[in-house]
Amino acid sequence: MHTAWTTKHKPRTVAEVVGNRVAIGTLKQWLQSWGMGVPKQHAAFLHGPPGVGKTVTVEALASDLAMELIEKNASDYRTKEKITQFAGLASQYRGFFGKERIILLDEMDGVYGNVDRGAIPAITKIIRDARCPIILIANDFWDKKFVSFRDKKKYLIIEFKKPPAGQVLKHLTKICVREGIAFEEEALKFIAQRSEGDVRSAVNDLQALTQGKKQLAYDDVSWLAYRDRKDVIFSVLRLVLYGKTCDTAKQAADLADVDLDMLFEWIYENAPYHFNVPSELKEAMEALAIADLYRARVRRTRHWKLLRYVIDFMTAGVAMARDKSKPSGWVPFRFPQRIRTLSASRPERILKAGIGKKIKGRMHLSVSSAQKDVLPYLKVIFEHNPLMAAGLTCWFNFSEEEVNYIAGGKRRAKEILKAID
Ligand SMILES: Nc1ncnc2c1ncn2[C@@H]1O[C@H](COP(=O)(O)OP(=O)(O)O)[C@@H](O)[C@H]1O
Ligand SMILES: [Mg+2]
Repeated sequence: MHTAWTTKHKPRTVAEVVGNRVAIGTLKQWLQSWGMGVPKQHAAFLHGPPGVGKTVTVEALASDLAMELIEKNASDYRTKEKITQFAGLASQYRGFFGKERIILLDEMDGVYGNVDRGAIPAITKIIRDARCPIILIANDFWDKKFVSFRDKKKYLIIEFKKPPAGQVLKHLTKICVREGIAFEEEALKFIAQRSEGDVRSAVNDLQALTQGKKQLAYDDVSWLAYRDRKDVIFSVLRLVLYGKTCDTAKQAADLADVDLDMLFEWIYENAPYHFNVPSELKEAMEALAIADLYRARVRRTRHWKLLRYVIDFMTAGVAMARDKSKPSGWVPFRFPQRIRTLSASRPERILKAGIGKKIKGRMHLSVSSAQKDVLPYLKVIFEHNPLMAAGLTCWFNFSEEEVNYIAGGKRRAKEILKAID
C-alpha cells in the first residue's frame, strides 16, 4: 500500500520538526503557562507560508505536553451556527478525561471575509471567553479579514518562516535512512534547495523520485531543474515518437508523471506531425486506435489488466510504426487541444456551477437555466450598480470569490463588498 511520506514521516514530537526553533519555543512556553491559570493572551495566531510545519508543530506539541487537541478546519466555521457548536468546548480547560485541552482552528484563510456574516466575530467572542488555549493558523496574517487579531495584548502572534535548505536536508536525510535508501548527498541537497523551504513539497519530491528504488543519485534528480511538467512530457514524447526499440518506448510511460489518459492525448495530438510517410502514419494511428479501444474497455469493465495493452499500443505500437523516416527539420510539440480547452476553463466552470447552485436555491430554477438566464443579468448589475449588487450578494449568499467573478474584477467587487459592511 502507498502512504504519503508526509504522513508516514510526519514529526511525532517537536524535536523532529525542523526550523523555527524560536517560534516553537514561544508557543510551547505559552501553552505551558496555562498550567498556572488563564494568561492574558487567550489565543495564539500562527502564520507563514504553506508546508513549513505550522500544523504539525501544534500536533507534536500537544502530544509532547500530553494535551488533548481538538482540530477544526475551515469547513467547521463557514457559518456562525457551526462555530457556536464548538464554543462550549472552549469554555473548559480540561477535557472529558481530565486532559488539558487545546483548540486548533486551522486553515483560517478559508474563512470568508466581508461577505460572511459573523464567522470572525463569533470566533473572537469564543476566544474572549475561552478557558483553554486556542490556536489559529493562516498563511496570510495580513489579510484584512484578520485585522481584529492584530492586537498583541490579546493575541500571541507567531510567524513561521521557511526553514533554510540545510534544515530541510536534515529532514530528507532522516527519511532516507528510515526507508533504507542509499543516497548521494548532492541529490538530497538539490531537492532541499529546490523546495525553497516548503518541507511538504520536498518530502513529496523525494518520494516521487525514489519510487520503487533503494538508491538515489544526483543524476536521478538533476533533471528536475527543468521540472516544468511539459519538459517531462516532451522527453516522453520523444521516446514514443522516435524510440528505436519497443522497450525504450514502453519505459516512457513509466517516466511520465502524468496519467495515461493525458499521455494518450499528447501522443494522439502529436503523432500526425511527426510521421511524414503516409503508410507509417497509418500504422501509428492504427496503434492508437487499438489502444483507445482497450482504454474504453478498461473504463467499461474495470479490467485493469488490460491497461498493459493500452500502454503497449500507445507507446511501442506507435514507435514501431516508424520504418526509417524522420520528419525533415525540427517539429515542435503541441499541447493537446482537448486538454487545453478543458483545463483553461475548469476553475471557471466550477465557480459558475457554484453560483448556479446558489441561484437555484433562491429562485427554484435548474442550475443550467440559472447560469444561462439569470447570471448574465447579474453580471450587468454587478458591473454597474454596487448597492443593488450588495443586496443581491447577501440574498444569494455569494462568496468573495464569486462576487469577484460576477463583477468581472476585484476592484468592482471590493466596492460591492464594502457596501455590505
Ligand atoms: N518543519 C518541518 N519539519 C518536518 N516536517 C515538516 C515540516 N514542515 C512540514 N513538514 C511535513 O509536511 C507536512 C505538512 O506540514 P504542515 O505542518 O501541514 O504545514 P503547514 O501547516 O505549515 O502548511 C507534515 O505532515 C510533515 O510531513
Ligand atoms: Mg497546515
